[in-house]
Amino acid sequence: MEKKIILVTGGSRGIGEEFVRGFAAQGHRVVLNYSRSQQQAEEVSTSVENSGGAVFCQQADVSARDQVRAMFDAVEEHWGMVDILINNAGINLDGPFLPMEGEQWQRVVDVVLTGTFLCSQEYARRYQGTAGHIINMGAATALHGRKNGTNYCSAKAGVMTLTKCLARELAPAIAVNCVVPGFMETEEVMERFNLYDPDRRRDMENRVPQGRLGTTADIFRMTSFLVNEATYITGQNHFVNGGEYMG
Ligand SMILES: NC(=O)c1ccc[n+]([C@@H]2O[C@H](COP(=O)([O-])OP(=O)(O)OC[C@H]3O[C@@H](n4cnc5c(N)ncnc54)[C@H](OP(=O)(O)O)[C@@H]3O)[C@@H](O)[C@H]2O)c1
Repeated sequence: MEKKIILVTGGSRGIGEEFVRGFAAQGHRVVLNYSRSQQQAEEVSTSVENSGGAVFCQQADVSARDQVRAMFDAVEEHWGMVDILINNAGINLDGPFLPMEGEQWQRVVDVVLTGTFLCSQEYARRYQGTAGHIINMGAATALHGRKNGTNYCSAKAGVMTLTKCLARELAPAIAVNCVVPGFMETEEVMERFNLYDPDRRRDMENRVPQGRLGTTADIFRMTSFLVNEATYITGQNHFVNGGEYMG
């Protein structure tokens, strides 16, 4: 397996943390990006290093072009060109549509959609190889909608369309794919949907043909396949959701 330099945005917890740990364990060099959770990022980073992994922590708000540029500069100085970009950073600021203020809409669009645009552009402008890969994180709710999620679902729909546009523009040197999780058992989701309540959890599980919530490991397996094994695959949505949404 060829060892790569992989930049994971939002790598301090949840799915991103799984990517950082998993790819470092495979021997890749991993850039762990975060925006505010410095302590969590440093804990993950130290733990990966203690297990013999190579990790480089970089604070940057993915929605700010100057910070994104500075992050890529720092990585280049430290290790060299990024081989693979995983646009994982995301936020949810859920709320009903009618009272939603501009800031609640804009911040989610800025982080989820503009952040993916800015990081992808910075990566693609610098990439000089022939086997690059951008892996975005979508959401099935971008396709079927969700109450209280106009900002998030719309931004993720943008990410999924951006994936296809970039797959066409950046081919053949860079593949662009989108991994689309269903309901994953991350702390953020468990708290936002109150799934620590056993009844609510059971309700949610009953909506999934495979009968359980997803795990960060499920998402890692698909992403690891894309990073390490995929050939001749670009511009696709890769659903990992136990059959909850069949695209
Ligand atoms: N969990 C699910 O069920 C699910 C389902 C569908 C899609 N997804 C998508 O999968 C991705 C990961 O989800 P998750 O549940 O693991 O999220 P999470 O636990 O909330 O973690 C989000 C990560 O993004 C980082 N982040 C947030 N804003 C950022 C910014 N402006 N710049 C850089 N980093 C930023 C956070 O770090 P800081 O705290 O430092 O900002 C954190 O590391 C997201 O794109 C999410 O939308 C998740």
